[in-house]
Amino acid sequence: MCLAAQLAVALAVVSAAAGPAAAAAMVDIRSFGAVPGNTSVAAALANARAVELAVQAAAAKGEAALVPRGLSFDLLPVHVTGVHGAWLHLEGNLSAHANISDWGGSKKTKFPSLITFLACEGVTITANASSPAAIVGNGYDWWWARLLNDLSYAPNLVYVQSCTDVLIDGVRTENSPRFNFYLLEVKRVEVRFVTVWTDLEGQRQGLEAAGHWDAAGRLPTFPLNTDGIDVCGQDVWVHDVEITNWDDALCVKPCRELTWGCSSNHTYENAVIHFGVGASVGSVPPSARVNCVRDILFRNITFESPTKAIYLKSNGGDVGTAVVEDVTYEHIRATGSVWYPVYLGPQQQKEPDGRGDGWWPPTNPLVSFRNITMRDVQFDDVIWPQAGVLRCNASNPCTGVVLEDMTISGWNATEWVCEHASGHATDVTPQPQCLAPTQRPGHLQVPDTTVASASTDGSRQPKPHKRL
Ligand SMILES: *[C@@H]1O[C@H](CO)[C@@H](O)[C@H](O)[C@H]1NC(C)=O
Ligand SMILES: *[C@@H]1O[C@H](CO)[C@@H](O)[C@H](O)[C@H]1NC(C)=O
Ligand SMILES: *[C@@H]1O[C@H](CO)[C@@H](O)[C@H](O)[C@H]1NC(C)=O
Ligand SMILES: *[C@@H]1O[C@H](CO)[C@@H](O)[C@H](O)[C@H]1NC(C)=O
Ligand SMILES: *[C@@H]1O[C@H](CO)[C@@H](O)[C@H](O)[C@H]1NC(C)=O
Ligand SMILES: *[C@@H]1O[C@H](CO)[C@@H](O)[C@H](O)[C@H]1NC(C)=O
Ligand SMILES: *[C@@H]1O[C@H](CO)[C@@H](O)[C@H](O)[C@H]1NC(C)=O
Ligand SMILES: *[C@@H]1O[C@H](CO)[C@@H](O)[C@H](O)[C@H]1NC(C)=O
Ligand SMILES: *[C@@H]1O[C@H](CO)[C@@H](O)[C@H](O)[C@H]1NC(C)=O
Repeated sequence: MCLAAQLAVALAVVSAAAGPAAAAAMVDIRSFGAVPGNTSVAAALANARAVELAVQAAAAKGEAALVPRGLSFDLLPVHVTGVHGAWLHLEGNLSAHANISDWGGSKKTKFPSLITFLACEGVTITANASSPAAIVGNGYDWWWARLLNDLSYAPNLVYVQSCTDVLIDGVRTENSPRFNFYLLEVKRVEVRFVTVWTDLEGQRQGLEAAGHWDAAGRLPTFPLNTDGIDVCGQDVWVHDVEITNWDDALCVKPCRELTWGCSSNHTYENAVIHFGVGASVGSVPPSARVNCVRDILFRNITFESPTKAIYLKSNGGDVGTAVVEDVTYEHIRATGSVWYPVYLGPQQQKEPDGRGDGWWPPTNPLVSFRNITMRDVQFDDVIWPQAGVLRCNASNPCTGVVLEDMTISGWNATEWVCEHASGHATDVTPQPQCLAPTQRPGHLQVPDTTVASASTDGSRQPKPHKRL
């Protein structure tokens, strides 16, 4: 290494003035050749290699790789593999290279994520949540390409697979081409103070222009896959996050119980979600290795104009089995649900390239749902003329479905679609027809279903539609 380069490295190891965690020092990605403010392919590739090298070099010293303040670095995919204590700290921006043709690949390519951490013990991605630093996805062209069916897939922004001890703190992502954070087969995870932002107006314009927007129903006619935070893993805590997107906002993915272990012990709490397609579980197809979700808590989540809010979804498939059990939703609020505010049943999906099971697919008896609790739930101004869906299969009914203190109101949200689910509903309006009504001591008897749905409670009068 020449003297100038050594000097550059030395100067680049700046002291951490303001890391959210106790970084002793940081390794500037510029010391490994990163160049800010240049959107050429060469710069995007150089920046990717610089991020990888800086993360490795920093990890060897127990430090963070630094994206320096006030600068933006164009980026093609980064792969960090097998690093112990990988730590990326953002004070400036990482920005996904916008020209799709430079990503290589063709229509059926599953593009690599912008930033991948694979098989790492210790992954930390930090930023000051009140700073403007962001991982910028520049997703517009990808959304268009998928709408027009020129591409079947698009890259995620942050992908972490087979890693332990993952902390994501204060990070902001914008306009991801696909999922924002996808964490797969991870153990011991905390995600906090994260903001996911998607330019919905840009998405809507794209949908309208491509004829994929039902103006009357104001529903996108397929999901756009801009998921917020999706996790298959164990011991997961996601809290104090704000998500604006148009697909699953928080999503528990199943893991393979026989080969990796069940996706279990997750808590998602203190979240605000704008639009989005729910605090979700799934989709869960059957698998020969047994897809599994267990012991999940969603608590204190507020939705504004969600497409769905509480969403548990099985998927098609005829090999193997799956189980979803002990899932609790507690203290959930939503205003202006555009579609079913509560949906437990087969995933509703239709992709531009024809994938997906469609809008009213058959239920799948190979996927079991047990012990699903919804408690202290209030959904106001529901736009869809039904309260919710509980749809299971006659040959494998959902059991232990417990609803307590739940009010769903809107101009015509008077009935559930309720098939082959058993359990009970206490203080629930409207009453799902297939669950036994129960009462609490001191409360009035819940009226019988037909009376409840026929009543003319003021909250069920027509209300003006809410605009998106
Ligand atoms: C985070 O940024 C805010 C606003 O710029 C600043 O006031 C605060 O001191 C920063 N916090 C840390 C820990 O650097
Ligand atoms: C951007 O980087 C490329 C490749 O290194 C270089 O050729 C070009 O001059 C740079 N452009 C600017 C504006 O610096
Ligand atoms: C980083 O991205 C944020 C969010 O888009 C933006 O406000 C900020 O100006 C960007 N910073 C730079 C240096 O480009
Ligand atoms: C994208 O990249 C391709 C190939 O590198 C090039 O031909 C095209 O002009 C670029 N498009 C834009 C908008 O820069
Ligand atoms: C569940 O996960 C949390 C971290 O989110 C952890 O503190 C707790 O010990 C885990 N519980 C069990 C039973 O493993
Ligand atoms: C619920 O979450 C909000 C943030 O979305 C937070 O401000 C509030 O303190 C939380 N409430 C409780 C009881 O934790
Ligand atoms: C129940 O499962 C069977 C077997 O997969 C399927 O053929 C049937 O359509 C399902 N029933 C409903 C109502 O979806
Ligand atoms: C489901 O709930 C019932 C009643 O609370 C309980 O006895 C049973 O153990 C639970 N099942 C599972 C799989 O947790
Ligand atoms: C109102 O809800 C009832 C019961 O679900 C349904 O039969 C009726 O068609 C709905 N009315 C409108 C205008 O959607």
